[in-house]
Amino acid sequence: MLNIRRVGVFTSGGDAPGMNACVRAVVRAALANDLDVIGIRRGYAGMIDGDYVEMDGRSVSNILQKGGTVLKSARSKRFHTEEGRAEAARQLRDGQIDALIGIGGDGTFRGAAIFNDEYNIPVIGCPGTIDNDLFGTDETIGYDTALNTAIENIDRIRDTADAHDRLFLVEVMGRDSGFIALNCGIGGGAELVLIPETITEMEEIKERLHSLMSAQSRSSIVVVAEGEEQGGAARIEQALRADDAFSEIDLRVCILGHTQRGGSPTARDRVLASRLGAAAIEALIEGHTAVMVGTVNGDVKLTPLRNVWSRKKNINYELLKLTQLLS
Ligand code: F6P
Repeated sequence: MLNIRRVGVFTSGGDAPGMNACVRAVVRAALANDLDVIGIRRGYAGMIDGDYVEMDGRSVSNILQKGGTVLKSARSKRFHTEEGRAEAARQLRDGQIDALIGIGGDGTFRGAAIFNDEYNIPVIGCPGTIDNDLFGTDETIGYDTALNTAIENIDRIRDTADAHDRLFLVEVMGRDSGFIALNCGIGGGAELVLIPETITEMEEIKERLHSLMSAQSRSSIVVVAEGEEQGGAARIEQALRADDAFSEIDLRVCILGHTQRGGSPTARDRVLASRLGAAAIEALIEGHTAVMVGTVNGDVKLTPLRNVWSRKKNINYELLKLTQLLS
């Protein structure tokens, strides 16, 4: 058991729907265990600046259903430096904060692990990113909402694509991973899905599109993950437009971008975020540190922070086959 009185909670990196539900769970679970909670605003940037706010039970009322993060988020360059981290440690000491819960993605956890090594401040991570690219949890907080947003948008695009018999390249987020692309491709009935986990040469893309468009005089939707190796939807568009074989094809690009980051979290994300926020406090009380709480096959599991980014979370290749079978 560690001697912890005051816990600092922060959200960092790209915001994700459900972060607020997680903050709420952290605050309420901490208070239920007689721990004080300090909200650290703007992630590591606010940690360095001493941008701290006391959290009571009421401070997290009515945030469960909201997208974004009431604590705000940032990607801090200063925290990458030794001076920045030393200042953060000083500020935490001044604020009498003796443990941290960070909600974010791999960048957040890399920073947390280094900080824990240097200053021995207990830290627990909660996986909050729409990308779902973290080893140690089946799903990350925000992924389900982003996926549903992407599918809703693809449904809308399908209507207009169909009306004009157009080929749409729809680019979705995910940084270097294809979880959103693959799953919204299946859920949205995409004719082709391009993800970073598999290499599809431009010639092969062209061939597949060509046979698709000539075999059917109707719309086609290609879901392109932003991290796909050809360089995204705009690059593929350029290559297609430069090829005479595609001159007759009515082609459009739609980049869903940050629409996938906002919005009210789905039920699934709310439940996951609530479970993991409470589990983070439990882990802290039990004396764990430098671990991420996640769920694996429905159960809460702890994974050392270092494994979260050093091990690869694989996509389900069966799903990729399924996109081909069903298109
Ligand atoms: O990691 C979440 C994410 O939305 C990625 O999918 C995307 O590549 C990136 O963040 C965008 O970052 P920013 O909001 O800083 O442009």
